[in-house]
Amino acid sequence: MKIACLGGGPAGLYFAISMKLRDAAHDITVFERNKPDDTFGWGVVLSNETFENLAKNDPLSAGEIRRHFAYWDDIAVHYRGQKIVSTGHGFSGIARKKLLQLLQQRARGLGIDLRFQTEVASAAELAKTHDLVIAADGLNSRTRNEFAAHFKPGIETRKNKFVWLGTHQKFDDAFTFIFEETAHGWIWAHAYQFDADTATFIVECADDTWQKFGFGTMSQDENCRACETIFAKYLGGHRLMSNAAHVRGSAWLNFPRVLCETWSYENIVLMGDAAATAHFSVGSGTKLAMESAIAMANYLRSEPTMAAAFAKYEDARRTEVLRLQSAARNSLEWFEDVERYLHLDPVQFNYSLLTRSQRISHENLRLRDKEWLEGAEAWFQRLAGAGDNTVRRPMFAPFRLRDMRLKNRIVVSPMAQYKAVDGCPTDWHLVHYGERAKGGAGLVCIEMTCVSAEGRITPGCTGLYAPAHEAAWRRIVDFVHTETDAKICCQLGHSGAKGSTQLGWEEMDAPLKSGNWPVLAPSAIAWSPRNQVARAMTRADMDLVRDQFVASAEMAARAGFDMLEIHCAHGYLLSSFITPLTNRRTDKYGGSLENRMRYPLEIFHAVRAAWPAEKPISVRISANDWVGADGIEPRDAVAISRMLQEAGVDICDVSAGQTSIAARPVYGRMFQTPFSDRIRNETGMATMAVGNIFEPDHVNSILMAGRADLVCLARPHLADPYWTLHAAAKLGDRGEAWPEPYYAGRDQLYRISGNAESMPTAV
Ligand SMILES: Cc1cc2nc3c(=O)[nH]c(=O)nc-3n(C[C@H](O)[C@H](O)[C@H](O)COP(=O)(O)OP(=O)(O)OC[C@H]3O[C@@H](n4cnc5c(N)ncnc54)[C@H](O)[C@@H]3O)c2cc1C
Ligand SMILES: Cc1cc2nc3c(=O)[nH]c(=O)nc-3n(C[C@H](O)[C@H](O)[C@H](O)COP(=O)(O)O)c2cc1C
Repeated sequence: MKIACLGGGPAGLYFAISMKLRDAAHDITVFERNKPDDTFGWGVVLSNETFENLAKNDPLSAGEIRRHFAYWDDIAVHYRGQKIVSTGHGFSGIARKKLLQLLQQRARGLGIDLRFQTEVASAAELAKTHDLVIAADGLNSRTRNEFAAHFKPGIETRKNKFVWLGTHQKFDDAFTFIFEETAHGWIWAHAYQFDADTATFIVECADDTWQKFGFGTMSQDENCRACETIFAKYLGGHRLMSNAAHVRGSAWLNFPRVLCETWSYENIVLMGDAAATAHFSVGSGTKLAMESAIAMANYLRSEPTMAAAFAKYEDARRTEVLRLQSAARNSLEWFEDVERYLHLDPVQFNYSLLTRSQRISHENLRLRDKEWLEGAEAWFQRLAGAGDNTVRRPMFAPFRLRDMRLKNRIVVSPMAQYKAVDGCPTDWHLVHYGERAKGGAGLVCIEMTCVSAEGRITPGCTGLYAPAHEAAWRRIVDFVHTETDAKICCQLGHSGAKGSTQLGWEEMDAPLKSGNWPVLAPSAIAWSPRNQVARAMTRADMDLVRDQFVASAEMAARAGFDMLEIHCAHGYLLSSFITPLTNRRTDKYGGSLENRMRYPLEIFHAVRAAWPAEKPISVRISANDWVGADGIEPRDAVAISRMLQEAGVDICDVSAGQTSIAARPVYGRMFQTPFSDRIRNETGMATMAVGNIFEPDHVNSILMAGRADLVCLARPHLADPYWTLHAAAKLGDRGEAWPEPYYAGRDQLYRISGNAESMPTAV
């Protein structure tokens, strides 16, 4: 085949090498506009995994690359006058220039035609004279633009500014992050050694800080001097250097996240940064470029036609790119939002930084650096009041809200059972909640319990609006208190426009087949075209419902619940006041967010006055309507939480969605946790996280990174009432109390879990 590689970066060169290795008969030319050693940037990082892939593909060039690697195992973080070091991270770095020289050498040795200082004006021209054109022309790919209508590139320019500098200061003991507070805001550096006497030194900051420093109006030299002054105490008198002469102006950039919808066109295929980018903070751009080159070479050999090879390449590499871009997004967003975390204790800040991409889990960190992690766990436990010598996972730390002390951080999330009779809980509820309380969770939250018969969602929903309800709940609460050391929370709610609907396992949210009752809402809007139009509440209705909430709270207090949660989420009555999607009122309860919050806050104040002062109250909110700017977005959720916090709400239970049939949620592991993180770290309010959290590792990393104070698990507790005790056994923690009659089962489980070293230990 006659092949043209447009671009002599890692993608173009490594593809040429990989093809030639598979068939020496290929006639391959690499066209590169620059001179051979005329390259931007400093060092690149390659993981062990990438290196192994390179070694399998071409042991010779891999061996040469390895000879020039700088290795380091530690990550050091300079923050608020402290240097925190953790180990076991295993990186290697190489000068970008050296990498390219080695690849050029290897390519020449294989007989590949390297044409430097050759600018290609159009890939289309090359395509006429070659069987295959690899468009590896980098971040600003001309080919991608030439065929933009076909490749459909999605380009998202990120918020932060960064500049890629170098220095002769040694950072050879660790990959180093330096966070500096200046008069113009925070600015930070990512520094790593890549050869004997040079290190990469990427400086990054928020746009606002960048503007205030006036970096945009400085020459590259002035920029280096300004950054030297900022980071002087880490540079040991060494200078910062720029080698971005090819970039116009100050050389500061905003990172563009690129992903093309299609990667090939006729005989032209995009590769490397031209097709997709990965943010530098996960150090994977070169990895993506070189691994894509290997994949393409493989498919061109294994597939019968070029079109089939392109299809396979795109399919396989897109999955990999999406995986990496998702980790990169988490990582770059962490840096964009870093000011949110700059109040954290250095231990927690370090943990948050290390786990920012969510690729490194809690237990994975233990494998890397057990000692550091145990120190962090001890810090967490100490802060939680567990005593100075406790080293246990964060999920097993106590937590206090007013006078309620929870033994651990696991919450059974409220889950409607639809098994009540006329609002009255039955033996089903006694057994269901009793089992979950025995199962080890610190807090069991009962299902949405309605303040009136009309306020029920379905005919199977529980209530607290009749003496019989109070007595039945009292029996359940007494059981929990007598037989377990769990606490029990009562979630109170009113269904609003989502009321008078079928049981959860029938047609959820659909009207009853018969016997519908009229429903109330802030505005005369139906939940869906199938549901009845709600009656817009009058002030008299509002007084009535408020008094019903108070009466239910009084019953909950008499029944002995430890905590109350007011349900202001998921499109039910109070939630439908908060979201503009369903609140169209023109009085003082509609319009601005302050107005829309007025009635839910009125309810809270009235309930708070009736609820024992020593017991806490939580409010559950939907932090995202998932409809974009027309509804509640996470930034509104921060404002909502501030209002709740000022009103005296003790903790915010941060859920999302279910407020509109137009919602388009983005699901994934822990998908709602970012909202809890944002609220907790921007307002300082305690939060509970919920939503697709199912592994102990998820829980521990959420807590340790300070993304929530408590973690709610719903569906996992339907599948396993003993989720907490089972998790403890699996993790080898024997500090959680089992019910006495179950000791024999506990001991057997401990034995088969095979974890000898199992008691909470002292440091
Ligand atoms: C600040 C920063 C730090 C980074 N750190 C790392 C890291 O630690 N690890 C890592 O793996 N990656 C890192 N990267 C990313 C990495 O540099 C790129 O992902 C990688 O270089 C992509 O390789 P490529 O071959 O696709 O593109 P490039 O390396 O950009 O190569 C494209 C080549 O095409 C040439 N070219 C373009 N147009 C034409 C034309 N019309 N005619 C002829 N030649 C042309 C260019 O001159 C260039 O040499 C970093 C990037 C930045 C910005
Ligand atoms: C069967 C079922 C019933 C639910 N009922 C309620 C409820 O009564 N009140 C509430 O706030 N959330 C309710 N939820 C939502 C859960 O509390 C939780 O927010 C959601 O399921 C996401 O958590 P998960 O991924 O751990 O399941 C219910 C969820 C399920 C699965």
